[in-house]
Amino acid sequence: MIQESCLLKSKVCLVIGGGSLGPGWGIGRAIAFAFAREGAIVAVADVNLEAAQETVDLITKAGGKAASFVVDVTDDASIQGLVSDVEKQLGPIDVLYNNVGISKRGDAAETSGADWRRIQDANVTSIHIAAQAVLPGMKARKSGVILTTSSVAAQRHLGYSSVAYAATKAAAIHLTQTIAIEYASYGIRANSIVAGLIDTPRIKILLKDSYGGSIEDMQASRNRVVPMGHMGDAWDIAEAAVFLASDKAKYITGTQLVVDGGLSATVPH
Ligand SMILES: NC(=O)c1ccc[n+]([C@@H]2O[C@H](COP(=O)([O-])OP(=O)(O)OC[C@H]3O[C@@H](n4cnc5c(N)ncnc54)[C@H](O)[C@@H]3O)[C@@H](O)[C@H]2O)c1
Repeated sequence: MIQESCLLKSKVCLVIGGGSLGPGWGIGRAIAFAFAREGAIVAVADVNLEAAQETVDLITKAGGKAASFVVDVTDDASIQGLVSDVEKQLGPIDVLYNNVGISKRGDAAETSGADWRRIQDANVTSIHIAAQAVLPGMKARKSGVILTTSSVAAQRHLGYSSVAYAATKAAAIHLTQTIAIEYASYGIRANSIVAGLIDTPRIKILLKDSYGGSIEDMQASRNRVVPMGHMGDAWDIAEAAVFLASDKAKYITGTQLVVDGGLSATVPH
């Protein structure tokens, strides 16, 4: 599995949200696998330990190195405990990847304060707490990478209401960018990936009702709006993540890499 020119050889990479909501390749699972393929030692953390372990099994079966951890990112102590456990078990964290994203349909009038806060906790506060836990070590070692999965929903209305999700994905970009600037002089880089419409198990579970209830209609409708004619897959995001995590991106910080088949450069027609 491990390639000759390993881009992440022996790097300890923590992928939070490295399971998958359903069977198959979620984005975090593909990122964890791609990091391991590049020689990383991967900590796969998820609220669903079984899903995290499934990712680890895929990696170890392919000859890579990984361990699973349980975490609930809505609980600060759980994130702090995770970082401490990973560092005890695998060594100092070189790359933190924040991949958790939860959502609930609803416009501004429909979204309750409780849902707003729950989504904010999972999608934004978690990045702050995880970064806070890894930054002192990265600063002392004068190196580290922090990456976040954001979404085109941060920048554009997607045609269905998901106001809390959209707001958190925008905040995630700005939080990651602010960390990048404030820690740039310590050799730490931070960037977001702005993912377009990606065909993952999650969308089959969560989104079909937004498109009239049929998975096929949902997929066709999402494919249709992308200039390239189809949704991306989890590997499209994972390859971008490998690049940004690696020294190939050593002069790239405080920015966003859009991976969306051209979607965000268009207007609806
Ligand atoms: N699929 C898309 O079209 C798309 C588009 C743009 C952005 N994204 C973003 O990409 C990321 C991954 O998306 P995906 O489609 O692979 O979804 P996914 O739901 O399969 O992946 C998210 C993972 O986070 C985990 N998780 C949820 N709540 C958690 C918690 N409290 N603590 C710890 N882990 C928790 C889930 O168990 C899951 O394994 C998300 O941030 C999502 O918002 C997805």
